[in-house]
Amino acid sequence: MTLQEKINSLYQDPTLFNVEEFEFIAKELINGLNTGKIRSAQKDDNNNWIVNDWVKKGILLLFKYGNLTDYSINKNFNFFDKNTIPTHNFTIEDNVRIVPGGSSIRTGSYISPGVICMPPMYINIGAFVDEGTMIDSHALVGTCAQIGKRVHLSAASQIGGVLEPPNARPVIVEDDVMIGGNCGIYEGTLIRRRAVLGSGVVITSSTKIFDLVKERIIKAENGNPIEIPEGAVVVPGARKINTPFAEQFGLSISSPIIIKYRDEKTDSKTALEDYLR
Ligand SMILES: CC(C)(COP(=O)(O)OP(=O)(O)OC[C@H]1O[C@@H](n2cnc3c(N)ncnc32)[C@H](O)[C@@H]1OP(=O)(O)O)[C@@H](O)C(=O)NCCC(=O)NCCS
Repeated sequence: MTLQEKINSLYQDPTLFNVEEFEFIAKELINGLNTGKIRSAQKDDNNNWIVNDWVKKGILLLFKYGNLTDYSINKNFNFFDKNTIPTHNFTIEDNVRIVPGGSSIRTGSYISPGVICMPPMYINIGAFVDEGTMIDSHALVGTCAQIGKRVHLSAASQIGGVLEPPNARPVIVEDDVMIGGNCGIYEGTLIRRRAVLGSGVVITSSTKIFDLVKERIIKAENGNPIEIPEGAVVVPGARKINTPFAEQFGLSISSPIIIKYRDEKTDSKTALEDYLR
């Protein structure tokens, strides 16, 4: 049986659980995720993102069948987590810069050589972070999130985790995207390559995004989460609420706006500094 088949059967039928067999499954899955050979989602030849739900099921099994373990450094620094998902062990040869101070990377995540992690930041299980990406302070790369090459995740940006249901698409950020400070990207949102999110943009599956350039409304449709088009420059916005009560108090609701598509000015503002890399 392949790893995929073993995970699918155990997920469906817990009576198949066997400690030795599970240790083997866990090791193979973690090794695959740590080296980037196994991913919770990946792009196919037609530019579509395919969710590997068996991988997400495998991660859920790690939680379910793991035992709480003492990872304390000493009696003052106490950490307890499932034995199946400790921190990711790096060596200097991995060529990832992890600046000292309060960051943590869970095992079962792939961090490409050349990635820079500024403290404090956190990368959760199932995440994939590709080369040249900068994860700034207080940023979160949530469960199974897929982050492309040369992405800038600015300070305090939150890339939400999507583990359940297993077939749900994780948050995906493609190559050369800039996520401004304090953004929140959740619920399977897909940010196509070279898009720019101005600081403070928050997107969930209920958000409506108004494209001022192409005069259209982008929203989650037919079970597909929101997709921000390639090169879009999205800034925080608001739209008026038209009920009498809302009119009385001048209320509006958050609605990010595509203000333009990337041009030279945007490129120069969001350029990655080679000296830092
Ligand atoms: C989006 C961003 C990159 C600007 O891109 P740009 O291509 O230079 O945008 P422009 O300056 O040409 O602005 C185009 C229009 O959008 C508006 N706009 C741009 N950024 C905006 C923002 N963040 N919020 C609201 N409006 C914004 C401008 O006022 C301008 O409006 P106008 O046409 O009415 O004059 C920048 O605003 C931003 O948010 N950068 C992220 C900063 C950050 O988080 N850094 C991280 C540090 S860790």
